[in-house]
Amino acid sequence: MFGPKALSLALLGASACAKYIVPGARWRDTEGNLVNAHAGGIMADQGKFWWYGEYKIEGQEEGGGISVYSSEDLATWEYHGIALEPIDGHPYISPDMIIQRPKVVYSEPTGKYHMWWHADNATYGLLLQGLATADSPVGPYAFVNATAPLGNWSQDFGLFTDYKDGRSYALYSNGDRREGRDVYLTSFNEEVSELDEVVHRFDKYDLEAPTIIQTEKSYYALMSHKTGYRPNNVVAFRADSLSGPWSQPWIVAPLNTRTFNSQSGFSLRIKGTKKTTYLYLGDQARVWKPVKGKTYYGKDATTAGDAFKQEANFGSDGIILTGIYGNDSTVTFHNIEGTGKPQWVSFYYQTQGSPDRIGGSWQLRRISSVVVNGNTEKVETLYQRDTHKGIILSAPLQLTLEKGKKNTITIGGLYNGVDYKGADIDRIVVYPPEGEKKWWEWW
Ligand SMILES: *[C@@H]1O[C@H](CO)[C@@H](O)[C@H](O)[C@H]1NC(C)=O
Ligand SMILES: *[C@@H]1O[C@H](CO)[C@@H](O)[C@H](O)[C@H]1NC(C)=O
Ligand SMILES: *[C@@H]1O[C@H](CO)[C@@H](O)[C@H](O)[C@H]1NC(C)=O
Ligand SMILES: *[C@@H]1O[C@H](CO)[C@@H](O)[C@H](O)[C@H]1NC(C)=O
Repeated sequence: MFGPKALSLALLGASACAKYIVPGARWRDTEGNLVNAHAGGIMADQGKFWWYGEYKIEGQEEGGGISVYSSEDLATWEYHGIALEPIDGHPYISPDMIIQRPKVVYSEPTGKYHMWWHADNATYGLLLQGLATADSPVGPYAFVNATAPLGNWSQDFGLFTDYKDGRSYALYSNGDRREGRDVYLTSFNEEVSELDEVVHRFDKYDLEAPTIIQTEKSYYALMSHKTGYRPNNVVAFRADSLSGPWSQPWIVAPLNTRTFNSQSGFSLRIKGTKKTTYLYLGDQARVWKPVKGKTYYGKDATTAGDAFKQEANFGSDGIILTGIYGNDSTVTFHNIEGTGKPQWVSFYYQTQGSPDRIGGSWQLRRISSVVVNGNTEKVETLYQRDTHKGIILSAPLQLTLEKGKKNTITIGGLYNGVDYKGADIDRIVVYPPEGEKKWWEWW
């Protein structure tokens, strides 16, 4: 997607409005609606980033089609509607068919934008690759065909373009059957309208959700294990040539964080004027270097009700705040400095290490309430995905604190379907408001 048409961030910086990329947050578009573009792919074209993803309708797994958003800074996203609209009764893109992991690339020879995706029926019995084309990035995209790649099966779909020669490749796992369980790296023809030849096959590792990050010297192929919508420890293979030899796989994120609770899906290489940045995108997109914020530790917090400070050698200052339950057993951080503007706050927590499973279904086990300055009229919800015991992760919320150093933040527990427990809290970090620095200037 980059390569001949690579963008320079310096060009973007002049006009872009200053925002952060906030990993794990619920992102909103320029109209204030939640961004709805799951398992997305990003293309750079016409001075903008274009994000394509699965449009999910509540209560319906499939059938929403592919949405498209554009951005100049990767943080401010404008919605352009549905790029690939489902068609009732269509054999491959009707609302009951699976349209997953879309990727778009510009085809020089055809002068069109080519969208590829994993095309399937509801029971994943077809295992095809879909192609639709459009004259502009936003579409509308017209369905061309859904085909079996070189006769084989194709499940999770990825698309990689080599920035050195502009050649595009399809990456796909070939399903869960005994004869499958491989991940293919196959070149496209020059039009990006058909597959050409298999360049490498990651045999029998039984991985999925592939994406490739290209550095000046090497290629890093990232893939996840097959655990459905539950995240796992994403692995990478390295090679200096796409045809290999490829290394053995290793885990890319700190152990037991399940890749910070995300599944791989896409990656971006952003060539800046000073340095090249690599972005990993999963269902929870992650940036590796955080903006500097001010930290408030659990030891300085006060507890109410049954909440207490538990001795914990893995916690900051050897303690963790636990027993957080409902409205009465809460913890409060004091003397927090605020600006009067919305600020991102990271809540560092641990949970007990079991998966997000309650009463036989997969859902969040730990949900907390967050109240600023005792204002219970405005209770924020903090979703805390599972961690391992002793592994501390964070969840972000955007809060407006009063200007000055006298703010309080109180954390309680919200109902998860069974009880009112919040996760154990280690510390909170308050970041400067957006608008003062662009996210890439902090790096
Ligand atoms: C999906 O396709 C497979 C292979 O043709 C078929 O066996 C299966 O019944 C189909 N599933 C649905 C829901 O139509
Ligand atoms: C769609 O793909 C199938 C299988 O490869 C092929 O037989 C058929 O001719 C294609 N149809 C179109 C309209 O390209
Ligand atoms: C797909 O490829 C695998 C090897 O990767 C092979 O065993 C299998 O038979 C192929 N399936 C089809 C439908 O060609
Ligand atoms: C907490 O307070 C809210 C609002 O007053 C109330 O609806 C809820 O039931 C309370 N929860 C618990 C566990 O006390």
